Amino acid sequence: MTRIIGILGAMAQEIDEVKAMLDNKCVVQMANREFVKGKINGIDCVVAFSKWGKVAASITATLLLQEFAVTELFFIGTAGALADGLKVGDIVISKRLVQHDLDARPMISRFELPLLNRIYVDSDPKLTELAGKAVSNLIDTGVEHIVGGKAMREFSLDPTLHFGDIASGDQFINSVEKRNEILGLLPDVKCVEMEGAAVAQVCIEFGVPFTVIRTISDTADHNARIDFNKFIIEVANAYSKAIVGEIMRIL
Ligand code: ADE
Repeated sequence: MTRIIGILGAMAQEIDEVKAMLDNKCVVQMANREFVKGKINGIDCVVAFSKWGKVAASITATLLLQEFAVTELFFIGTAGALADGLKVGDIVISKRLVQHDLDARPMISRFELPLLNRIYVDSDPKLTELAGKAVSNLIDTGVEHIVGGKAMREFSLDPTLHFGDIASGDQFINSVEKRNEILGLLPDVKCVEMEGAAVAQVCIEFGVPFTVIRTISDTADHNARIDFNKFIIEVANAYSKAIVGEIMRIL
């Protein structure tokens, strides 16, 4: 089977950088979304901005799988750190995804996905390992050439790679109370974002392997909004482009 790599990103600017990497581009508009088909290193890819939140990202992921027949999906974006020891600029790759705002009690347990009999969706071990290798390669060569010296100093970047649980919900988490509430209920969660678990659910229903790669942009507390906006502009775009480039190089 010919590989068609789906690449979804949570920020328009981030994904624009990835679209620019495509050769033989062909743009398809569908459901108020832009899907760009093309090749990176000779491998077929389809790239799209997921849009924000679980519903929007599920629509985009469903179209990507159904209309463009992608065989593997990588999701890239930023996240707020929950776990101790994570800092801005670190990268988290998913082992499992969970929806922290899903609660259909008393019918089923808290966080359980209705009719799927599970709380967590596992990401694909091979794609997770591959993404880990790509990120490790970048970290080993130093990220200064990716983001520039100014951003390195401003964000005190010294990235480390983590694998673990990622929680998604339709909320931007920017208070200590809320972050502690999620951590109290889901203590293994490393970081929080707004799309990954929804895309994961779409992928398992379609039987398509996926993994999620998130760069920590903030610590999900009262400073989150300010850190987040600055980080996106100055770091996240360059990181995403470099991570996708390296994944496609070693694929
Ligand atoms: N994405 C990046 N930071 C986030 C946060 N604090 N909450 C939800 N999604 C995010």
